[in-house]
Amino acid sequence: MRQIEEAAQRQFLPVVGPRKGRILAEEVRKAKPRHVLEVGTLIGYSAILMGRELDEDAELVTIEIHRGEAKIAGENVVKAKIPPKVTVITGDAIEVIPTLNGPFDFAFIDAKKTEYSQYLSLAEDKFRKGTVVVADNAGIFADQMSDYLDYVRNSGRYHSRYVQVGDDGMEISLKV
Ligand SMILES: C[S@@+](CC[C@H](N)C(=O)[O-])C[C@H]1O[C@@H](n2cnc3c(N)ncnc32)[C@H](O)[C@@H]1O
Repeated sequence: MRQIEEAAQRQFLPVVGPRKGRILAEEVRKAKPRHVLEVGTLIGYSAILMGRELDEDAELVTIEIHRGEAKIAGENVVKAKIPPKVTVITGDAIEVIPTLNGPFDFAFIDAKKTEYSQYLSLAEDKFRKGTVVVADNAGIFADQMSDYLDYVRNSGRYHSRYVQVGDDGMEISLKV
């Protein structure tokens, strides 16, 4: 993880980072999910971070639109030797999500901010009561994801809270 953090800093890659990462890992630890969906893999930092909290019989499916990043993510996941099965899918999440088999008990959304509500509406029928959905950058990009935030906070379908970390934060939503 340190190697990825250093590479991310050198190359200005927007990984979730250690501070928000600690909260994400804690949410995974509490939820003990068997089937995790991630939208926005980049080079696998958050996938490994979540994967370290999962059991051997768990599965993490992560989607990355860019082939080069997806390839590096796959290599990093192998190097990290984490317990669960991890599948990195190269493609546009908007096309990929409808092809996936649920149910997912945990989701981490960290791709194109203006598309968060589309990812959610495509994935929602694969969630169950108790599924936890964590959305990154709900502080600095709140304006770009306002439809998403409005939905999870006001639709009555989630219990949702914002967790501030430094000048950014994550929206953590529990499907009811
Ligand atoms: C902020 S980075 C993800 C960081 C990663 N979750 C981490 O913390 O290590 C966002 C990633 O989402 C990808 N992305 C953007 N739009 C996407 C889409 N429609 N489908 C899949 N991936 C997408 C970008 O290529 C980029 O690699």
